[in-house]
Amino acid sequence: MADDLKTADAFATSWNNLPPGSVYTRAQFEEWFAPLIRADAEGREVLELGCGNGSLLFHMASWRPAQLEGIDLGASVLSARRNLSSQEHKNWVVNQGDLTTYRDRPRDLVYSIGVLHHLQNPRVGFESVLANTKSGGRFHCWVYAHEGNGVIRWVVDPIRKVASHLPWWFTKYLVATPLVIPYFFYAKLISRWRGLPGLPALPLYDYSLWIADRGFAFFRHVAFDQLVTPQTVYLDRATIEGWLAQPDRIVPGSTYLIFRNGNSWKFGGVAR
Ligand SMILES: C[S@@+](CC[C@H](N)C(=O)[O-])C[C@H]1O[C@@H](n2cnc3c(N)ncnc32)[C@H](O)[C@@H]1O
Repeated sequence: MADDLKTADAFATSWNNLPPGSVYTRAQFEEWFAPLIRADAEGREVLELGCGNGSLLFHMASWRPAQLEGIDLGASVLSARRNLSSQEHKNWVVNQGDLTTYRDRPRDLVYSIGVLHHLQNPRVGFESVLANTKSGGRFHCWVYAHEGNGVIRWVVDPIRKVASHLPWWFTKYLVATPLVIPYFFYAKLISRWRGLPGLPALPLYDYSLWIADRGFAFFRHVAFDQLVTPQTVYLDRATIEGWLAQPDRIVPGSTYLIFRNGNSWKFGGVAR
């Protein structure tokens, strides 16, 4: 928990220094949640564990849940509240707390996107997702994969281990910004030349096609997000399969495990 607090404080510097609104487009939000759709949230009680600045809550609110709650350990709850205030839908609350120990009434839909891989103990975070999901309710998570992330694990992660100890502004403007410039052009070129033979063998090919739709500010946000955090692990398929193999807690046959953008795992199911 004390170590998760360091991570949450680091993320708050990222989230609290962004322009207002969601950092994600509507299309990104919908793709992140697929196979879930609006009907899985509309009129239901929905909980996000590790909500950052509310960028996903912002879009989730427009799916009209009966009640929407976000939990984050860090001061990013301030920007999350600001972002949700501009939403027409008012049935939301953002609370500061530790998701690993958070227990309240179980919800119809619980999700945790981009969070479990930053916890000291990702498995405990996943257990909390399950513990907060109603029997018959759905859960949905997304994490960095071990698979497909060789360049990130071997090149970016060693830089993160140093950069995460530097002042946030130094990491953002003097580390993340210069580092992401070559990647920005790499992704844009991959996108322009998509379909050329041999190109799919390049590192981060699918991920580059995904991110290339966005402008430089989003690239820098993602790079800063990667480099500012003191704790990141890359989870392999076998680990997630092990988490999902709990027939006493998860309805067998309800689960999905999707390899997303060639370097991450999206997974979920129905709680027992
Ligand atoms: C990469 S951000 C993801 C935010 C959001 N889900 C999104 O996709 O935009 C990870 C978030 O997890 C939060 N976090 C990390 N450890 C936590 C914990 N133990 N309890 C609650 N939140 C935590 C961090 O503060 C940070 O805002």
